[in-house]
Amino acid sequence: MCGIVGYIGQRPAAAYLIEGLKRLEYRGYDSAGVASIVSGKLRIVRSIGKVAALETKLGGRALSRMGIAHTRWATHGKPSVRNAHPHADCHTKVAVVHNGIIENYQELRISLEQRGHRFRSETDTEVIAHLIEEEMKTAPFEQAFTYALKALRGAYGIVAISSDDPTKLLAARKSSPLVIGIGRGEMFIASDVSAIVGDVKRIVYLDDGEVATVSQGGYDVRTLNHRKREKDEVELERDWMVAERDGYQHFMLKEIFEQPKSFTDAMRGRLLVREGRVRLGGLRAVETRLRRIKRIVIVSCGTSYHAGLVGEYLLEGVAGIPTEVEMASEFRYRKPIIDRKTLVVAISQSGETADTLAAIREAKSQGALTIGIVNVVGSAISRETDAGVYCHAGPEVSVASTKAFTSQLAILSLLAVYLGQGRGLAPKLATKIVKALAAIPKQMEEVLQEAKSIKVLAKRYAQQDHYLYLGRKYNFPTALEGALKIKEIAYVPAQGYPTGEMKHGPIALIDASVLSVMLVPRDSVYEKNFSGLEEILARGGKVVAIATAGDLAIKKKATDTIFIPKTIEMFAPILSVIPLQLFAYFVAVERGYDIDQPRNLAKSVTVE
Ligand code: F6R
Repeated sequence: MCGIVGYIGQRPAAAYLIEGLKRLEYRGYDSAGVASIVSGKLRIVRSIGKVAALETKLGGRALSRMGIAHTRWATHGKPSVRNAHPHADCHTKVAVVHNGIIENYQELRISLEQRGHRFRSETDTEVIAHLIEEEMKTAPFEQAFTYALKALRGAYGIVAISSDDPTKLLAARKSSPLVIGIGRGEMFIASDVSAIVGDVKRIVYLDDGEVATVSQGGYDVRTLNHRKREKDEVELERDWMVAERDGYQHFMLKEIFEQPKSFTDAMRGRLLVREGRVRLGGLRAVETRLRRIKRIVIVSCGTSYHAGLVGEYLLEGVAGIPTEVEMASEFRYRKPIIDRKTLVVAISQSGETADTLAAIREAKSQGALTIGIVNVVGSAISRETDAGVYCHAGPEVSVASTKAFTSQLAILSLLAVYLGQGRGLAPKLATKIVKALAAIPKQMEEVLQEAKSIKVLAKRYAQQDHYLYLGRKYNFPTALEGALKIKEIAYVPAQGYPTGEMKHGPIALIDASVLSVMLVPRDSVYEKNFSGLEEILARGGKVVAIATAGDLAIKKKATDTIFIPKTIEMFAPILSVIPLQLFAYFVAVERGYDIDQPRNLAKSVTVE
């Protein structure tokens, strides 16, 4: 979503701020801006469109050795220069960048206007600058900042500067991430570690309710009530900062091809093949409570929700624990019935998704044990859950999630075996599962070798008006994921449906204009799927089948077939999703869209 970068130090700030913003581009945005204090006066430059446009507008104009910058993704007021951040107060003494949403901004604005403040934008953010200005009538900048925060309701990551005190960046966090980067004689602040450039080795994550004063020589973190907080400094993991395309045309393609490695990384040190067991160090602290749980509820959104749906089959089938999956955005408002014997599992690539975070908070307030399956280390969900297992997929830059999905499936598979181990999972079955998991990365390589023929198919079907994705049992969630991928990046209506439900209505859609992508691996529902496929063909529909290698019966029937290697039934989704990712990718390329930053979407959805 929106991105924040701040710098204060010994060097000209402009280059750092622009480079930081560029590193946040993948999150999605519509406008950008910078603010700095030059010769005692606030200077703000903003533009719509890409960061490159801002850079051009900035031209050779020097900023000082401090400043803040922002990429905006519109929430209040359309994308425009006026609405772009940073926002200033009436007398242009205070500049503010903000991620999140101020829920009570309208009432605040009315009351500030009554006190004579003049607003220039339609944003919720501008009230923050005016509130600080109002408080500065009687208090210095730092104190005024904290007073202003107390009036805000909603979610925020805020950084502010004032021409009254150009030696400081002030920052505050509530439900929207901020991290401080510690350099030598220079300090950074950003909404995402990837935006911290320069020679930074250690970082500090701000927590909700904390306010930071960042100056050239260091930082000071306090609560809203001015109580000092001792913060842990952690080492900055460099690979998060150097996400390059490595010669691939798009990050999405690179990330699809990274899956054999990311899947291996997810299992590293956790899959004990010779012993036929699984070890999950991240859950050790809650082992005793895990033994007592009677029920699992998975909460997640989008692609992570689809992973959760596969997880439901895995956890019930392997560990024998009743499991439900719910979209976090629904769960949080449903008054869910959970207790101390319920395990709530949050799945999230970013670890910052507002709905999933809220669901976890709701679950915790009712006494549930919470664990996270999260990719971004140190993210809010990973910090707020009782324990967790990181995906270790590495940075996922493309907005459309691919490798995170298969890594989530890796962790869910490990979790199912781990929980099953204490609940009578037969050692023979455990060994079979563990061996099948160990074989997956190599099988992924085999699927990826099909990329060329999938590209040919995508070319053939790129101009379809409608796609149907059909699967059953373990592969129903894969169908949903395939449909989501093509909607997101190729902007074509697509529906994921359980094959068995077709005859209850959707089969009426079938004619030559609809392409059905059917997941029909050799599994326990193979025959049922086969008749489903025949029914579609009989009604003049076209079918691209994803089938198990060597299945000539399907090849003969379907209009086109893509083969995946044979694995045990429960792991078919891990392989069958890859052709669907590639198909969506090549269709979108064929249609000429912006693959890594699809319209209207953001990588991390930190607002409701
Ligand atoms: C789809 C996609 C989204 C995310 C969803 C949850 O490609 O990226 O649907 O999966 O917004 O995000 P996380 O996993 O970060 O909680």
